[in-house]
Amino acid sequence: MSEHPLCTQAVVLVGGEGTRLRPITSRVPKPVAPVVERPFITYVLDLLARHGVQRVIFSSGFLASAIETECGDGLQYGIAVEHVVESEPLGTAGAIKNVQSRLDDGPLFALNGDVLTDVDLGALARLHKEKAAMATIFLTPVEDPRRYGLVCVRPDASVSSFVEKPGNEHSGGGLINAGVYVLEPPVLEMIPAGRMFSIERGVFPKLAQAGSLFAFVGAAYWRDIGTPESYLQAHFDILEGALKTAVADELGPGYVHVSSSARVAATARIVPPSYVADGAEVGAGAQVGPLAVIGAGASVGEGATVVESVVQAGARVGAHASVEGSVLVRDSWVGAGTQVSHAILGEACRVGAGNRLANGICLHPGVELPDNSVQFRDVEQSGEGR
Ligand code: GDD
Ligand code: MG
Repeated sequence: MSEHPLCTQAVVLVGGEGTRLRPITSRVPKPVAPVVERPFITYVLDLLARHGVQRVIFSSGFLASAIETECGDGLQYGIAVEHVVESEPLGTAGAIKNVQSRLDDGPLFALNGDVLTDVDLGALARLHKEKAAMATIFLTPVEDPRRYGLVCVRPDASVSSFVEKPGNEHSGGGLINAGVYVLEPPVLEMIPAGRMFSIERGVFPKLAQAGSLFAFVGAAYWRDIGTPESYLQAHFDILEGALKTAVADELGPGYVHVSSSARVAATARIVPPSYVADGAEVGAGAQVGPLAVIGAGASVGEGATVVESVVQAGARVGAHASVEGSVLVRDSWVGAGTQVSHAILGEACRVGAGNRLANGICLHPGVELPDNSVQFRDVEQSGEGR
């Protein structure tokens, strides 16, 4: 952290419905969905605190109370958190405008609340100041920019064009808007109050045209956790130490954390990198990992395997079951001998014994499947697409 941070206030956008992440977000908003046993948003708070941000305003809407309950006033994260709740969605610019009265007259960071990154916010703010920019955005390279904001940059770091969700007219890789900005207060005057307005469509293209939008292309880790695949991958990246997090510190050099209150049978194998949380149980002969998270109070039965998967708090994997490339949302159960491959089980699902779930299947919260009722095959075997 630099001694005198240039920017000490931040707005974090957390009002989206997170529809693409269902059923992981059917009952919890995306910002508090657990990622390696911590509400996702705490990774964002850690990043901000590390770079000298003192005040964060959460601009929320959908399931706002869950965010407020989880983060409160932020003191446990070393940062003052305030919550502003919209009565209807105002879009990514409207949601910033809506908190204007809470901001001081200096520059602010604005962040999408679903981005996991270790970007150097100090360096972003320094570039912003050096260029005397009206807004500076962090860009990251991706192979397929179609679901992002595609940005073209000139050699002097000014943005020549910003195209949100470029669609099929664009092919190949590109630099995209990573959802982390520094904004000067006059930018807020470009946003109409009290109605839906998008920063990506209504603000950035205009600033680019005026030559006052700049870009910071860092080599930082970056991922938007907004789809089940990227949510799962975020766990793997944290477990592998691909970015600096408090979890990496807990895992230590062996890349394994087993809580002192977890009960792991002597004949079970915990293969790194893996994380076994408080009160979890792992039965005799079971294999957990590589790349597995077993949540608080969750259990893995005798002889079961959990590989490249997340078993959230209170979920249960029956004896000799196998779970691979999957997410078991909290309190879901998998019966004995059931195979779960590349599937998502919503909260409190009950999948009986002897089933086979694969092929990207997602079960809504509370779904119950009797024993031996489903035999989904792998993509290769069935020849079906996802
Ligand atoms: N308060 C509030 N109100 N927040 C909102 C609203 C709203 O109406 N709509 C979206 N948000 C929040 C979401 O909760 C999320 O944290 C963030 O704003 C971005 O919304 P997403 O719905 O996740 O957008 P996206 O992922 O399709 O695209 C955005 O992020 C990409 C990077 O991940 C854009 O900013 C793209 O340009 C960018 O590339
Ligand atoms: Mg997103």
